[in-house]
Amino acid sequence: MKKLSFRTVGFILIVLLMCNVLTSAQELKPIKLLSPQKDGGKPLMQVLNERKSLREYSDKELPLQVLSNMLWAAWGINRPDSGRRTAPSAVNMQEIDVYVSMADGLYLYDAKEHMLQPVLAKDIRALTGTQSYVKDAPVNLVFVADLSKMGNRTDEGITFTSAADTGFISQNVYLFCASEGLATVVRGLVDKPVLAKEMGLRPDQIIILSQSVGYPR
Ligand SMILES: Cc1cc2nc3c(=O)[nH]c(=O)nc-3n(C[C@H](O)[C@H](O)[C@H](O)COP(=O)(O)O)c2cc1C
Repeated sequence: MKKLSFRTVGFILIVLLMCNVLTSAQELKPIKLLSPQKDGGKPLMQVLNERKSLREYSDKELPLQVLSNMLWAAWGINRPDSGRRTAPSAVNMQEIDVYVSMADGLYLYDAKEHMLQPVLAKDIRALTGTQSYVKDAPVNLVFVADLSKMGNRTDEGITFTSAADTGFISQNVYLFCASEGLATVVRGLVDKPVLAKEMGLRPDQIIILSQSVGYPR
């Protein structure tokens, strides 16, 4: 049999590597979330008493039911007739998108279908913050304002509204985590240009905050 040259072998290896990268990008499938369990949880006053930021995470993944409940609590639709959500938004703009960064890749929370839509087959959790614990959390949420849904607002109006609307979603996550015994912390320390590039965001999509969620270590 004819011997392959060093160059040919190198070329074949590069092609195989590229095929592998492409395949794994295509492999990230949508995740159908489970119906949220709306009848559980601790009493509100107890949850408020237990709400806190935690920065030490176990690598245990969130079960699908817990992830589903958490995302619905954060920013799910609680009035299907009108499509309104568990958090308020200025003039019901619903301009905040919740991206979900996990070990297998990045997803977008689709509240209408209660699904995670695939965005990127890559673990970018470490890029969702600048602190060392961020990469340990099994889930890192990234709150992104979609300026195309915000009409003709001034820069000040955009900043104020998107920050306020994100705050409500983040607090829902905090309360859910307190109820479930999960660890969470909302984070402004994010290298936003680097993360936006990695996430493939459009220029009119602005990262507001990130939030880690997982089991306490
Ligand atoms: C807008 C905002 C940005 C924050 N950014 C960070 C951050 O980048 N990193 C971090 O570890 N904590 C961050 N935090 C969490 C605060 O440090 C924390 O809420 C505060 O220390 C009070 O602690 P508590 O949440 O346990 O009451 C942020 C909180 C808010 C509201």
